Amino acid sequence: MKTKHIWRLLMLLFLLTILFVVESILLLPIQWNTNSQSRPMAKSRQERESKIEHAMFRHKLIQAKRNRSKNSLTIDSTSLHLPKHLLPPKKANTSFSNIASRMLDCEDVLEMSLVKRIGRGTTKEVWKATYQGKEVAIKMVSHSVADIKMCMNRVGNQDREEQRRCYIFANYKLMKEISLLMDLQHSNIIKILGYCILQDESIFGDDHSIVSVVEIGDRLSKRKVMNMPWSQRIQFSIDVLTLLHHLETSSIGSFLLADFKISQMVIVNGTMKLADLDDIAPEETNCTQDSHCHFGNRNLGVQCSSSMCHGRNSKLNLLSFFEKFHEIILKDVPDTLETEVKAAVKKLENLQVSSGQLVEIFKTFQRKFTK
Ligand SMILES: Nc1ncnc2c1ncn2[C@@H]1O[C@H](COP(=O)(O)OP(=O)(O)OP(=O)(O)O)[C@@H](O)[C@H]1O
Ligand SMILES: [Mg+2]
Repeated sequence: MKTKHIWRLLMLLFLLTILFVVESILLLPIQWNTNSQSRPMAKSRQERESKIEHAMFRHKLIQAKRNRSKNSLTIDSTSLHLPKHLLPPKKANTSFSNIASRMLDCEDVLEMSLVKRIGRGTTKEVWKATYQGKEVAIKMVSHSVADIKMCMNRVGNQDREEQRRCYIFANYKLMKEISLLMDLQHSNIIKILGYCILQDESIFGDDHSIVSVVEIGDRLSKRKVMNMPWSQRIQFSIDVLTLLHHLETSSIGSFLLADFKISQMVIVNGTMKLADLDDIAPEETNCTQDSHCHFGNRNLGVQCSSSMCHGRNSKLNLLSFFEKFHEIILKDVPDTLETEVKAAVKKLENLQVSSGQLVEIFKTFQRKFTK
């Protein structure tokens, strides 16, 4: 009886050993494969999730581009797939109609529907979007803007970290613009309605890590402005001069509109507004002598005092205004005002008037014209 039990036990042990060997040969390699795939997944699950959402967002943008021929294209209300786990905490719920009293935040941005792209600069894309039945403009850095494309080409496909760094400068410029829009609020500067800055720095190196929401306007070009009636062109000139006066006398400093272009202005309810603030700066030029305050060979009449060319920025703004606007002002001037208008433009060219004085001069032209 005992021998029988011992044999049974030995048989069982033998079967178990065979089973173990078979399992080791057949299943172990499969487990290894699974392991090698799942390890990085578990390691950065959140990051992968956000990337998937970003990819979905891009996919919708591509769809939008393909369907651009359709008049009005609406992507569903979840089109801005910002990673929800990275959003700042939700604030008290107030309605969009209350927009004047509070800034829109990430939760609001999530609810916006993209309609179509309306502008693209060196660092930002601008989209028309709808939110609670109203149209807004959304600005964000994307892989299709010139600055990012150039950087991506330079670093190549291999180094993901280097690719992410490509986004830092453009996102910094958008942050700078958001902060200036909040500090410099004015009737001739586009109104900021809100913004979303994702909390996790690790995804700053990607599309739409930072999104700003501003009021939407109609784009402008010099040709478009040149075809407008003179009274309208004078009104736009007053708008820009009023803006220059505001920027030059701001409490933060006297701003230089570096690289001033008409395409940076948009029209909102008939008023010209500056829509691109990322290249403006309040620093005056450093100097040790007056000639350091010249512009090339031109003496701007600015002196070097306390190592700074105080007033140089405002002179350069006036020169840019002259360059971009003298034709706009001088085309088809009413006969009765021709001499006065030409004299004012000459004074502007010679930098003998300030932006504030020009506003007053141009307003008198307007009054005389409408009499
Ligand atoms: N609020 C707006 N409403 C309508 N169009 C806008 C608005 N803001 C900007 N745009 C359009 O989008 C274009 C690109 O925007 P923006 O100038 O801010 O980008 P950018 O990358 O800073 O451009 P740039 O390289 O010229 O400095 C603008 O030239 C303008 O025509
Ligand atoms: Mg710009």
